[in-house]
Amino acid sequence: MRILLIGAPGSGKGTQADRLAEHFGVKHISSGDLLRQHVREGTSLGTLVKTLVENGDLVPDGVVMDMLRKPVLAASAEGGYILDGFPRTVDQAKAAYAVATELGVAIQVAIHLDVDNDELVRRLLARGRGAEDTQDVIEHRLAVYAEKTVPLVDYYSEREWLLHVDGSQPVEGVTTSIVSRITERLARSQS
Ligand code: AP5
Repeated sequence: MRILLIGAPGSGKGTQADRLAEHFGVKHISSGDLLRQHVREGTSLGTLVKTLVENGDLVPDGVVMDMLRKPVLAASAEGGYILDGFPRTVDQAKAAYAVATELGVAIQVAIHLDVDNDELVRRLLARGRGAEDTQDVIEHRLAVYAEKTVPLVDYYSEREWLLHVDGSQPVEGVTTSIVSRITERLARSQS
């Protein structure tokens, strides 16, 4: 199973990716978590991206793609992945599609978690994950999402891989909706 989660900052991508990875017995791969790990460990990649991540700006496409190649290939060989935070732009999606299709590891379904902005801000301020979750940076992250990532939703809907899910339900309800929609879709594709 190879699934992609798309959603604004605070929409619950990480939360749902953990639960779905457990449900489907596959790996959760988060571009944001991997980048933050590099920053924490002070690697050369971490030094390069620190300010961008803390300010809520996107890291260059090539950097993210190079970082993800190995974990995506490894997870695919072991049954699949739940990808959270990548791709984040149509350019990233196109580049990843070309490479992943050639390697037979392209995503099978994209899930869009839909949550309104007031709830996103409320969740992120409550979480308070360092510089990233301050009022100004949250507003900037939401603006970057609207400009760079929302077009991705149209990109996937044109490819008929996209499921929209109401991400404002309680955590358990969101997971149940996603699992039932995926199960339904798989059954349809096999019939
Ligand atoms: P990333 O870590 O991907 O950040 P993000 O998209 O801003 O998302 P968050 O992790 O903040 O939120 P989430 O949707 O995962 O929600 P969560 O489950 O945590 O990226 C960080 C940075 O890395 C980017 O800004 C960029 O600089 C860089 N980056 C990453 N990927 C990149 C890429 N592909 N290209 C370029 N740059 C990249 O939940 C949030 C809170 O809400 C939690 O407290 C949670 O408990 C709560 N919550 C979750 N679900 C619910 C619910 N249903 N009801 C109530 N509360 C809930």
